[in-house]
Amino acid sequence: MLVKAIGMMSGTSLDGIDICLIKIKKHKYQMLAFKSYPYQKQLVDKIKEASFLDTSNVQKICSLNYEIAYAYVDALNEFIKEYQIIMDEVAYIAIHGQTIWHNPNQMNGYYSSTLQIGEPTVIAYAFNKKVISNFRTMDMAAGGSGAPLIPFVDYVLYRSKTKNIALQNIGGIGNVCYLKKGGSISDIIAFDTGPGNMLIDGAMQKLYHKAYDENGQIAGMGTINQKVLNYLLEDDYLNEPLPKSTGREKYSNQYLDNIIEMLKKEKATNPDIIATISAYTAYSIIKEYKIFLKDIDEVLVSGGGAHNEFIIDILKQNLNAKVEVMENMDSLEAFGFAILGDMTIKQKPANVPSVTGAKKAVILGNITNPPYHDN
Ligand SMILES: Nc1ncnc2c1ncn2[C@@H]1O[C@H](COP(=O)(O)OP(=O)(O)O)[C@@H](O)[C@H]1O
Ligand SMILES: [Mg+2]
Repeated sequence: MLVKAIGMMSGTSLDGIDICLIKIKKHKYQMLAFKSYPYQKQLVDKIKEASFLDTSNVQKICSLNYEIAYAYVDALNEFIKEYQIIMDEVAYIAIHGQTIWHNPNQMNGYYSSTLQIGEPTVIAYAFNKKVISNFRTMDMAAGGSGAPLIPFVDYVLYRSKTKNIALQNIGGIGNVCYLKKGGSISDIIAFDTGPGNMLIDGAMQKLYHKAYDENGQIAGMGTINQKVLNYLLEDDYLNEPLPKSTGREKYSNQYLDNIIEMLKKEKATNPDIIATISAYTAYSIIKEYKIFLKDIDEVLVSGGGAHNEFIIDILKQNLNAKVEVMENMDSLEAFGFAILGDMTIKQKPANVPSVTGAKKAVILGNITNPPYHDN
């Protein structure tokens, strides 16, 4: 049976809502359309407010849970219009939602918990469709960290009998999924490699009032400060054993301010600062591969950072593997959650316990039914 479905993703970079339409035929998935819809600046500010302890409160989070859902509805309406999508052919809408807090492994003495907001009933109501949401929570209920979830999708789409493949995503954070040739799902190694675009974006905002360093052009005009780079690469996180993950909690404003101050003391110019921080992202990936991954034949890079030529060049020059930017670098995660939605519908487990630390493989996702019958 042929089925179509919608996948919607918004990541920690807070750049917006990625939407895709996919076709499902048994176990084969095909992307039919993809587009990214930026968040309004006002909404980004509200999400940041709700995500930081000193500015957040329950009223803001409660309201934002609905406001984000309305933003999802608006974006999906635009998508439907733009690609003339016939919603009668769409079986379900899978949404990741916006993470505003993620506290795995009882960090800081709090219960293991995670919160992706964007109220699914609002979306189900707007389109009279089944909505699948809250993909991370069942893994956490099973003792896992609720992340990463994309390795399952990477395995479904990219496993090879002849090549060892590293799928490197550079989003807000960098993360890798390593698929050993001919390996099974339990052979997957996946972890966060360190900073992705988060520090670069932060520095661009502070120094240039821009959201990001387009194609790595500013970094390309600067010189890497080797002394500070070496210092950054001694960061404890990079030597921590697996499994591990990191986030905005670590690469905070304070962390970035310290780096910028250190570089300014070294008389680094603004382009030098961007170059050094971008090099930190690239060389942390290289360092992590050296420590944790042996024998890589091919590195496939995705996420917004795959557009950063400064980073890609460093990877190409320093990794002993073929480094390739993926064609679908921007759409992979939305595609991934649409596929995870299919696993929910088919009632098949889709977490990778060896990666998340869950006690068992479990079925992910909450299903919200369409609110009424058309006839
Ligand atoms: N053309 C580009 N050049 C350099 N960086 C880019 C470009 N386009 C996007 N990015 C970076 O990618 C980020 C978004 O990446 P994305 O994979 O969507 O991350 P997330 O999953 O965290 O939302 C942006 O914040 C920006 O830093
Ligand atoms: Mg994004």
